[in-house]
Amino acid sequence: MRGGCSTGHMAACCDPGEYDVVFTSKYARRTAKSLRESGLDDTAAKMVDFVTEQGLDGATVLEIGGGVGGLHSELLRRGASRATNVELSTAYESEAANLSDESGLTDRVNRLIVDVVTDPGAVPSADIVVLHRVVCCYPDFAALLGAAADRARQMLVFSYPRRRLLTRAGTLGENLGYAIRRRDFRVFVHSPDAMLAVLADHGHWPVSGGQNTWWQFTGTVSG
Ligand SMILES: C[S@@+](CC[C@H](N)C(=O)[O-])C[C@H]1O[C@@H](n2cnc3c(N)ncnc32)[C@H](O)[C@@H]1O
Repeated sequence: MRGGCSTGHMAACCDPGEYDVVFTSKYARRTAKSLRESGLDDTAAKMVDFVTEQGLDGATVLEIGGGVGGLHSELLRRGASRATNVELSTAYESEAANLSDESGLTDRVNRLIVDVVTDPGAVPSADIVVLHRVVCCYPDFAALLGAAADRARQMLVFSYPRRRLLTRAGTLGENLGYAIRRRDFRVFVHSPDAMLAVLADHGHWPVSGGQNTWWQFTGTVSG
């Protein structure tokens, strides 16, 4: 799918090694290059704007599946105090470290390789929780979003593929590619209504959102 959501299948959904196979150091280098040359993608930029409009001063951020860290780095530049990034793939670390160094943010970022679903105790809560292009890479969206919401004290913003013919076709093509290469990885177009229902069950209510051709995001607040 355009935008690069790739990965994660049922049987092996929580094995970090499976994510390393898809989210490789080559993928990390490409993401870092694009970030340096073009900045955040359109959806990430809108997610940052949503959080900034809600009020960011001094807030802590937890980014789940943040890759090289472009999104939480921008939140730090805009006034967040500290960020924790949790990832399943180990391949991003060197690129993420370079980017943090270049931006002078290293002391304000903590990076962990952990699955918030299977090891929730290892992941700290934060004022703001962000997941950009992550739920589409995880089969058990209810477990992932539930764990994420439980860690979000004020707001949670997440992006996901729009549920339409175009994205379904793109996902089908991407999954076909994985099947041909005999990989277990699959991508998912989860139901937006079902995802929002999970967040509501965990006390998070949608207040904003946006979409482009492929991606949609929803910003929620707790209460
Ligand atoms: C398509 S990449 C997106 C990376 C980054 N957010 C971006 O937009 O460039 C999806 C990422 O989510 C991570 N991921 C998927 N499920 C996760 C989970 N349960 N906990 C932490 N990271 C997860 C994967 O390892 C992968 O790096």
